[in-house]
Amino acid sequence: MSDKLWGGRFTAKAAEWVDEFGASIHFDQKMASEDLEGSIAHAKMLGKQGIISNEESKEIVNGLTALYEELEAGKIVFDVKNEDIHMNMESLLTEKIGPVAGKLHTARSRNDQVATDFHLWVKHRLPHVLEVLTELQAELLVLADEHADTVMSGYTHLQHAQPITYGHYLLAYFEMFQRDYERFEFNQKHASISPLGAAALAGTTFPIDREFVADELGFDAIYHNSLDAVSDRDFALEFLSNASILMMHLSRMAEELILWSTYEFNYIELSDDFSTGSSIMPQKKNADFAELVRGKTGRTYGSLMSLLTTMKSLPLAYNKDMQEDKEQVFDIMDTVLASVKVFTGMLNGLTVHKERMLATTQDDFSNATELADYLATKGVPFREAHAIVGQLVLIGIQSKTPLQKMNLSDLQAAAPQIEEDIYDKLASETAVNRRTSIGGTAVENVKKEILRNQKILEAR
Ligand code: ARG
Repeated sequence: MSDKLWGGRFTAKAAEWVDEFGASIHFDQKMASEDLEGSIAHAKMLGKQGIISNEESKEIVNGLTALYEELEAGKIVFDVKNEDIHMNMESLLTEKIGPVAGKLHTARSRNDQVATDFHLWVKHRLPHVLEVLTELQAELLVLADEHADTVMSGYTHLQHAQPITYGHYLLAYFEMFQRDYERFEFNQKHASISPLGAAALAGTTFPIDREFVADELGFDAIYHNSLDAVSDRDFALEFLSNASILMMHLSRMAEELILWSTYEFNYIELSDDFSTGSSIMPQKKNADFAELVRGKTGRTYGSLMSLLTTMKSLPLAYNKDMQEDKEQVFDIMDTVLASVKVFTGMLNGLTVHKERMLATTQDDFSNATELADYLATKGVPFREAHAIVGQLVLIGIQSKTPLQKMNLSDLQAAAPQIEEDIYDKLASETAVNRRTSIGGTAVENVKKEILRNQKILEAR
């Protein structure tokens, strides 16, 4: 006879290494407290509904509560022979309170149990994600406020495009993290549906109270289809997908932090505590932490692909394939929380080389659009203005003279409409400040946006 909790119909005993292969206790023990919480709620409900006696219900709840305390005190030892967290807990409970422990599994299956534990695990941790995102967003606003008028090159194709402010750049990331925040906030809705009571797949003949259990566990809703309840992992996929988008955002900023702290750019310097040295080159200061976040983005996408692929084509309802869901989510939860925190720290200690940023807008041609716009306001069709300025840029490149350093007579030779007032318009500060269209980079816009965003954070 088999030594398993489910061993009744088995005659042979599996080899240890086979048990090891099937087991999940080495990782699903992370859901130990959720498993106990779920069982406590279920045991209370069984008593309340008269499915087991109040006395039995109390005995079970007390036993589970004692296990909870032992768990907190780090006194619980799991056994791979018991396969997963659910059967480990049941067997520990049996050791503690005897055969009455066997009544706990009435009207329940490991299928709705694991789904419940996993929902709870994600549900309990999403608020931390929202918290670290808020801290990051707050840090971005502090930095944006400091640099609302710090002029720098804006890029397209990584070529100088038009001047912007560093504050405006930072607020672009604020917006991305705001959408991330909203996605994780929504993620809570689907993590907060209770599968408990779906039993194996079809529901149960016992007169259970699913709403009571859901309430006890802090769920906002219950699944309305038992097959869906035990086989849905959308909430986990949504988490991994939201995490992937967030990490993509972080990786873009990480890339810029790395690039901008190079000798060639020299726009910023990361603080010592978020940089590392080289074991051979004494002069080195590497942006390791930004690189690591960039790297962990790949790991996050991998987890999303892994779970999507696991779930693909799975027939309803529960399949053991789904045991592969948890490690991905556990790992990416840690990855996301740590990566966002590292970013907040990096931004907090950042040194910004304002003069250097400004200087790169003063010997380039990123003000060429200003001149084209100027001609357009004087009635020159924009296409024609574009061609005229293109010619001037070519001359400027050949003679190493930026537009604002050219003589008025030379400019007028290209376009007689140009007058003395052009020089002010060509200054990068002016170029920035004239971009007052909604969402534009003008300093007054940036300041207004900071206030609007501060209100968003205050309302949380
Ligand atoms: N350890 C399993 C998992 O993580 C629990 C559910 C097992 N159910 C079953 N019928 N084998 O998915």
